Formats: sequence, structure tokens, C-alpha cells
Amino acid sequence: MTDRIVWRRRLRPLSRVALIVAAVTGDPVTGVLGAPDLELGRYLASECMTCHRSATAASTIPNIFGMAEPSFTTLIKAYRDKQLPNPVMQNIASRLKDDEIEALAHYFAQTKRPEEGRP
Ligand code: HEC
Repeated sequence: MTDRIVWRRRLRPLSRVALIVAAVTGDPVTGVLGAPDLELGRYLASECMTCHRSATAASTIPNIFGMAEPSFTTLIKAYRDKQLPNPVMQNIASRLKDDEIEALAHYFAQTKRPEEGRP
């Protein structure tokens, strides 16, 4: 326990973020060192579903399911940096850390849009 506290204190701020993410996902090893975390992505994506699940050709909400990871990451960071004007997405993106954006990109790239209710 003491070891752990000493170790944490030596971490740079960025690593501490990774540690917090690791604590949330319950997997310290992949959380700190690993590839984008699918479970974290799924967890964070629940916030996006309200709007993006209802994306249709006729709506103003774009479909983000199946989007390539680099495009997804670039778009979210553009909202975060206020290079894209949408205030809703700017606000959402402003709360996301880089590794959370990557986890979301990873999740959406391999997730199909849930079927709409069919007639
Ligand atoms: C309140 C509704 C709402 C929520 C919640 C929401 N979005 Fe969006 N999102 C939008 C709208 C509307 C746009 C289109 C904005 C524009 O025209 O620039 C958009 C655009 C995007 C785009 C760009 C898509 C493209 O093809 O240009 C991405 C990527 C995206 N959202 C990801 C997310 C993620 C990830 C979350 C959850 C963390 C999320 N959104 C939550 C409404 C929402």
C-alpha cells in the first residue's frame, strides 16, 4: 500500500490520468499501457447514444457508427479546439481526454448503429 502511494506520487500528471482511467475500467495494465480500450469506449458512448443513435439521412445528426478511427479522432479534437462550430459537440468534446477520445473512436469504428424500429 505504501509502495503504491510513493509510486503514484512520482507519476507525471498525464500518467495519473491514465491511472484514473485504469481505475474506472478496472484494468491497470491495459489502462496504462494498452491499445484503446473498447469497454471504456462503450461506457463513454452511452452519453452519445441519445443523439447519435437517432441519426437518419433526414436528420441533422450525423451517423458516427463505423467511422474510421482517425477521422473520428480528428473531428472530436476539432470540436474540442473549437475549430468546428457546433456548441453541443464543443461542450461534449471539451470534457474528453485524449485516451477517452481514442477509446470512443475505437468503439464506434467497430459498432453498427442499433436498428431503428421498423414498420
Ligand atoms: C445533444 C446531442 C448530441 C450528443 C449527446 C452528442 N452529439 Fe455528436 N453531434 C451532434 C450533432 C448535432 C452533430 C453535428 C454537428 C455539426 O453539424 O457540426 C454531431 C457531430 C458529431 C461528430 C462529427 C460527425 C461528422 O460526420 O461530422 C462526431 C464524431 C460526434 N458528434 C461524436 C459524438 C460523441 C463521441 C458523443 C458522445 C461523447 C456525441 N457526439 C454526443 C449531436 C450530439
